[in-house]
Amino acid sequence: MPRTDFHEEKMHDFYYKKGELYCEKVRVAKILKKTGTPAYIYSYKTFTEHLAKLQKAFRAAKPLICYSVKANSNLAVLRALVGKGAGLDIVSGGELFRAKKAKCQGKKIVYAGVGKTPEEIREAIRARILLFNVESMPELEQINAIAKKMRKKVNVSLRINPNVDPHTHEYITTGKAETKFGIDFEKAREIFKDARRFTNALVSGVHVHIGSQIENGDPFVEAFRKILEFIDELQADGIKIRFLNLGGGLGAIYSDENPQTAEEFAGKILPLFKRRKFQLIFEPGRFIAANSGILATKVLYVKETDVKKFAIVDAGMNDFIRPAFYNAFHHIWPVVKNEKAPQWIYDVVGPICESGDFFAKDREILAVKPGDYLAIMTTGAYGFTMASNYNSRPRACEVMVRGGTFKIARKRETYQDLVRGERS
Ligand code: LLP
Repeated sequence: MPRTDFHEEKMHDFYYKKGELYCEKVRVAKILKKTGTPAYIYSYKTFTEHLAKLQKAFRAAKPLICYSVKANSNLAVLRALVGKGAGLDIVSGGELFRAKKAKCQGKKIVYAGVGKTPEEIREAIRARILLFNVESMPELEQINAIAKKMRKKVNVSLRINPNVDPHTHEYITTGKAETKFGIDFEKAREIFKDARRFTNALVSGVHVHIGSQIENGDPFVEAFRKILEFIDELQADGIKIRFLNLGGGLGAIYSDENPQTAEEFAGKILPLFKRRKFQLIFEPGRFIAANSGILATKVLYVKETDVKKFAIVDAGMNDFIRPAFYNAFHHIWPVVKNEKAPQWIYDVVGPICESGDFFAKDREILAVKPGDYLAIMTTGAYGFTMASNYNSRPRACEVMVRGGTFKIARKRETYQDLVRGERS
């Protein structure tokens, strides 16, 4: 049964009442009057309910759910999720800094990424994180040497590259042999067999993350089966596995996708892990964040050419790069619906000097005029976190809505922010 119609399914807390778009109980236009545009607007309820869906679906296995900070790293978001029991998945010293600011306990932090610097490794050991997800032999040597110098012991999981095709966008495919991620089975086996050599980096877990926006459970099952076979072999050799980190990658609903729900995913996955004794870890990012945010923007001009009608808006690809980068589809909704307006076909574009600076092409939406607000939907994940200052554009503000109230979770940047640290 198709459950995925973005407009009907309660995937999020953005909805219309009397032609006005609301986030939870707050009128979006009311927020924009205060903040101006462009503005990211987040729903606390959507964030926490998506986390709760996973917690509920997997409760039998008592996993540690480490929200992937890269999806949306605003402190208000991290605080909300940590407050509801989430751990955090980080990939940099900066994300560790945020995790600490959000008061996440070290023992709930896992650290991934192919290029951790010595300083980042030291900071993470000092923060007593749960474990490093290690992506290569040289990195393992490095972590071991640093931990030894610090007279500390630290857990590591080896990130396996299982060579499985997740059938998603090439740029977010990470578990195929030709990608830079992880270690192949053979090399990983050698490392595990030789693990005693690493006296301070305790090789005690396995990590796998095959890609992002995976809509169907089969590639996960294929990858996890391979991983379990591998673990069985290790255990037959007397090697103990404490942690099994299954990564993130669960798809979100952007339009008419039909990704598995948390319940369906758990139904497919959990039977594989029955009667197994390790601590399961998940690293979901998009599943929790994508539907939880919108990017509101204002129409500046409507420009007609012989072949196109352009709605030129005040957000650009610097604010939100997914359409330009992945040709990603995002719904565009009016913030105030003018039901009497005709539908027109527009390219919705930003002010930046690149043809890739678009949010939608040949999209039918209600006719717009300068001053109208539009909402780019499903931008809670990989939205603000991928924003830049390209064209010297200050980054947008972020707003967190909770029930009937809202707060500025990040101020709009100023021109002064743009040149901070520069010398002429
Ligand atoms: N764990 C690891 C090791 C990862 O590399 C990622 C994402 C995640 C977890 C979270 O994956 P998720 O549950 O969000 O799929 N910028 C792209 C997505 C890049 C994902 C990178 N890694 C986009 O906008 O589609």
